Amino acid sequence: MNKDFNNIINPQSIPEGILTFFQRWFNDYTDRYIYDKKRQIIDFYEMKRVHTHEVCRYITAVTKKYTNDDGKINLAEVIGLFHDLGRFEQFKTYNTFEDSKSVNHGYLSCRELVKSGILLKLNPIAKNTVLCAIAQHTKKHITHNLKPEYVFWSKLLRDADKISLFPFFIENIPEWERNNELVGDGKISDKYLKAASQGNALERESYRNLNEFKIFILTWIYDINFAESKEILKEQNIISLFFKMLPDTDNIKCFRSKLLAHIE
Ligand SMILES: [Fe+2]
Repeated sequence: MNKDFNNIINPQSIPEGILTFFQRWFNDYTDRYIYDKKRQIIDFYEMKRVHTHEVCRYITAVTKKYTNDDGKINLAEVIGLFHDLGRFEQFKTYNTFEDSKSVNHGYLSCRELVKSGILLKLNPIAKNTVLCAIAQHTKKHITHNLKPEYVFWSKLLRDADKISLFPFFIENIPEWERNNELVGDGKISDKYLKAASQGNALERESYRNLNEFKIFILTWIYDINFAESKEILKEQNIISLFFKMLPDTDNIKCFRSKLLAHIE
């Protein structure tokens, strides 16, 4: 079987025409939330659309390092495009992006997609790959015993999602320092730092103030899966930029060394 033919029938590939259709559908869907009655942009929703485009950019960049197959790169883009679809309905219904105070937004994204019927344009394997990666992106760990092909796409999305959020926090935390209820006393407990230095991402909502929140976000680095994702973090100098916002103590330096070792 020649390689091109193999690509055409590859069940996980998505043709260019379907990707374009999905992009238009996504814009129409999100427009309904983003614009108020006076056609003014509502920032909370717009922020999620910008985040989506960032995730698409990173997930395709990392995928391109592993394959030249356009159908596969399109699949990556579709996963990125739809991964946070449920964020719009989540904020509209619950007025929050916190899953613990509303619903799991990965589940909500899948529900909105299934309800729309648009994934019927895909063959069942591509459809399940998209839904599975989206459902997996909000879990603390990828489900045990998942098929390897699903694990691959789930890991890609989890990396792209995190890579896109680090710069967002670096940009916004200085503003939050001045004006956010999370600031608190800024004390990082030894216990928290010790837990953060163990090599695992910390539990959501385990932090008590903005400085511990920074530590929490940094522990996502332990969950970065692909070498190409680590390269992007290094190119963007993410670790150094985050540590500029933290106290310069010996324990903090030790934590920093652990993270640097992880992305080397
Ligand atoms: Fe998400």
